[in-house]
Amino acid sequence: MEIVDSRCVLCHGREGESASAIYPRLAAQHPDYLLKQLKDFRDGRRKSDTMSDMVKGMKDEEFRGLAAWFSTRKPGFRQPADADLAGVGKYIFTKGNSFSGVPACVSCHGTNGHGTQQLPRLAGQHPAYLEGQLKEFGDRERTNDNAVMHSVASKLTALEIRSVSVYIGSLQ
Ligand code: HEC
Ligand code: HEC
Repeated sequence: MEIVDSRCVLCHGREGESASAIYPRLAAQHPDYLLKQLKDFRDGRRKSDTMSDMVKGMKDEEFRGLAAWFSTRKPGFRQPADADLAGVGKYIFTKGNSFSGVPACVSCHGTNGHGTQQLPRLAGQHPAYLEGQLKEFGDRERTNDNAVMHSVASKLTALEIRSVSVYIGSLQ
């Protein structure tokens, strides 16, 4: 896709594989979620200086094409994880933390972190990106649709954030 090659490839890769850990993987992400995020970056609802510049002036129609492209790319990437950290992360992901009121991530994002039409896929995402987003949700610095995830992320400790991110990154 032309627009991918000229505008997105540098950071997210042609197949949405995002070779560098600071840029989120887009491959196999749900199209409705992608479309929503692109509009929110353009319209200033989700703050990111980088992404707002990238999509400035783009039309909904172009966003639909981009969402269709990246959502149909094969996922197939995962990060090898430190086993001890991933063990803690798996507990949080599948059971939450009843002592601090953290709900299990699987209850919304699904057993394998594949998400739903409305909820983003998390499986195989770069841990560094996940960790950053969880911190932003906790502080309400992720500015669009943060109500649900704020109530989750604000209850996570730094160790829980690190470990759940590492575990999710290892999911296929
Ligand atoms: C210069 C690097 C760069 C380029 C080029 C770029 N992006 Fe991004 N993109 C980022 C960064 C950094 C983020 C994370 C923003 C944040 O922290 O909220 C991001 C986030 C996203 C997200 C949100 C993903 C999620 O899981 O919520 C989408 C969707 C996205 N980019 C699509 C695109 C598309 C489509 C293009 C091409 C039109 C593009 N990006 C070009 C750097 C880039
Ligand atoms: C009650 C439902 C619910 C639960 C439980 C939940 N989430 Fe979410 N999560 C959401 C919603 C809704 C969004 C999308 C927010 C948006 O549209 O901007 C989201 C988005 C995210 C994102 C951003 C993904 C991206 O690509 O930028 C991450 C990371 C995330 N959740 C991690 C987690 C983790 C880790 C847990 C468990 C500790 C968890 N979530 C539990 C509903 C939930």
